Amino acid sequence: MSNNSYCQAVFPNVLARSLWMWPFHCEFYFQRISSYFALVPLAGPNMAVRNVLVTGCSSGIGLALAVRLARDELKRFRVIATMRNLAKRQALEMQAGPVLEKTLEIKELDVTSEESIRHCVDSIPQRRVDVLVNNAGLGMIGPVESQSLTSMQHLFDANFFGLVRLVKEVFPDMKKRKQGHVVVMSSVLGLQGLLFNDIYSASKFAVEGFCESLALQALKFGVNISLIEPGPVITEFERKLYEEAANMDLSGLDKETLDIFQGFYMAYSKEVFTALGQSPEEVAEHTMKVITSDQPPFRYQTNSLYTPITTLKHADPSGNLPLNAFHQMIFQHDRLFKASLSLLKMLQWRKRRDMDYNKSP
Ligand SMILES: NC(=O)c1ccc[n+]([C@@H]2O[C@H](COP(=O)([O-])OP(=O)(O)OC[C@H]3O[C@@H](n4cnc5c(N)ncnc54)[C@H](OP(=O)(O)O)[C@@H]3O)[C@@H](O)[C@H]2O)c1
Repeated sequence: MSNNSYCQAVFPNVLARSLWMWPFHCEFYFQRISSYFALVPLAGPNMAVRNVLVTGCSSGIGLALAVRLARDELKRFRVIATMRNLAKRQALEMQAGPVLEKTLEIKELDVTSEESIRHCVDSIPQRRVDVLVNNAGLGMIGPVESQSLTSMQHLFDANFFGLVRLVKEVFPDMKKRKQGHVVVMSSVLGLQGLLFNDIYSASKFAVEGFCESLALQALKFGVNISLIEPGPVITEFERKLYEEAANMDLSGLDKETLDIFQGFYMAYSKEVFTALGQSPEEVAEHTMKVITSDQPPFRYQTNSLYTPITTLKHADPSGNLPLNAFHQMIFQHDRLFKASLSLLKMLQWRKRRDMDYNKSP
C-alpha cells in the first residue's frame, strides 16, 4: 500500500475513534478563538434607534430574538416582529409584555409572497429597515427517495427564495443609505452536510452561497451581511420534524435504508438534540452580539461543540477526511458515538446547572 492510500485508509479511522474526545477539547479552543475575535459592541449615547425587521416570530429563535432586542436595556431598537399567521401572535405578545406596541410591534409577513413582503415594508415609516433578520424557515429530514419534489420546492421557497425576496426588497434602500445589516439564520448544516438532511442542508448551502456572493457587493456600499450558524436548537422546529417523519410514506424504501433511518438516525437524532441542543434564548443572545457589534462577523457559530466538526472540512480540500470520519463514526464506531453523546449530555446538564446557580441571588 502506498503512503498516500495508507493515510487515506487509516487517518479517518483514527480520527473517528478520537472524535469522541472532542467535547473535552472544543470548549477550550472555542474560548480562545472567540476571545481573539471578541465582538466589539457598538457604543455611544447618541446612537440612533435602529429598525429591526425579524421574520418567523411566532415561535423559537425569531420570537426569542424579537423579545431580546425589544427589551434591550439601552433601548437601541424598534422591532418589527413579523409572522405569516397573526393568529399565532399570543406567545410573542405574552413574552413581550410591557414592551409590546412600544419597542415591539407585530406585523404579518409571509416570506413566500413578494406582495406580503412589500406590504409589510411599505407600512414602515420611510420603508426604513436598518437591520433585516431573515429567520423564518422550515426543516426536513428523511431518505430523499421518500420525499416529494413538491415538498422540497416548498422548503426551498421558504428557506432560500424567502431570503432572496426579502433582500430584493430592502437591499436597494440600504445601498442608497450606505448602511444596513442583513442577518441570516443559517445553520451548521449550511457548512457541513448530515445524514438524511440532504434537502434542508442543500437549502442552507444555497443561503450561504448567496450571502457569500452578495457580501462582496454589500461591503462596497457599507452594508454588512452576517450568517448565524446554530447547531441543534430546541424549538418547534424539532417537534415538527419528528411529526413529519412519523407521517412520511416509507413504503417504497429498501429494508437497509429503512433500518438506518428508523433504527439508527431517528434514535440518535433525538439524543443529539438533547446532548447538543441550545435554547432559542441562547441563540438570540449570540445574535444580539452580532447585531450590536461594531464590526459584525460574516460567519458566526453559536455552538462551540460544533466547531471541531466544521473545521474538519477545511483540513482536507478533497472532502474525503470529514466524509470518511463521519462514515466510520456513524457506521463503525457507533458505540463510541453513543458514549460521546452521553458525555455531552452530562456536560450540557452541568453547564445549565452552573448557569442556573449563577443566576440565583
Ligand atoms: N431549531 C434548530 O435546530 C435550528 C438549527 C439551526 C438553524 N435553524 C434555523 O433557525 C430558523 C428558525 O427556526 P426555529 O428553530 O426557531 O423553528 P420554529 O420554532 O419552527 O420557527 C420557524 C418560524 O418560521 C416561520 N415560517 C415558516 N415558513 C414561513 C413563511 N413562509 N413565512 C413566514 N414565516 C414562516 C414559522 O411560522 P409558523 O409558526 O407559521 O410555521 C416560525 O415562526 C430557521 O431558519 C431554521 O432553519 C434552526
